[in-house]
Amino acid sequence: MKKALAVFGWILFGLIMGVGLMRFLSTQDDLTELAAETARPERTADGRIALYYTADDRGHISGEMLGFLQGLQTISVAMVDEDRETIHDAAAALRRGNGQGMAVQMKSPEGFRLLGRSLRDDFSAIADMSGTADMADIELAVSSAMSKCVACHSSFKAVEVKEDTAAAAN
Ligand code: HEC
Repeated sequence: MKKALAVFGWILFGLIMGVGLMRFLSTQDDLTELAAETARPERTADGRIALYYTADDRGHISGEMLGFLQGLQTISVAMVDEDRETIHDAAAALRRGNGQGMAVQMKSPEGFRLLGRSLRDDFSAIADMSGTADMADIELAVSSAMSKCVACHSSFKAVEVKEDTAAAAN
């Protein structure tokens, strides 16, 4: 009888400890999650959507962005000179990314990826129309492409993080 009681006692003790441990662990999980969310708020102080990238990711983005800026500068001079060949070549060069952007793509939300893709499609269309279209139409197409630079920069902001755990918000 005494032995049975002792066994029962130990089982009860084990259960209570087990439940306690599980609650402790799940509270720990919640706290870790909360800390991560606090450390990486969804928006930056100026209200833009924060994108958490590593230094490598940022280096990649900067490289592509400088390419955009240089390409646009080349195209804007070429439009003044009505130099269709240069417009074609500069726009065609911006058709595709440099192929190293997978990490960035995977961490970026859908809206960001769509804007990037749509900008590339615009450059592709500008390259295609450059041979024959009216210069005024080419200028309009370039201006419309540039509205995507504005749209992305005003909606998103890159924030650098050390470790590579930056995940897409959606
Ligand atoms: C899909 C989003 C997106 C689009 C579209 C976009 N950018 Fe950016 N751009 C960014 C992000 C994000 C950064 C910040 C990179 C960083 O500092 O980490 C940036 C930074 C830049 C920079 C600063 C680069 C540096 O080295 O600090 C320039 C210049 C730039 N963009 C030009 C352009 C131009 C010109 C276009 C349009 C032809 C364009 N961008 C379109 C997302 C975009």
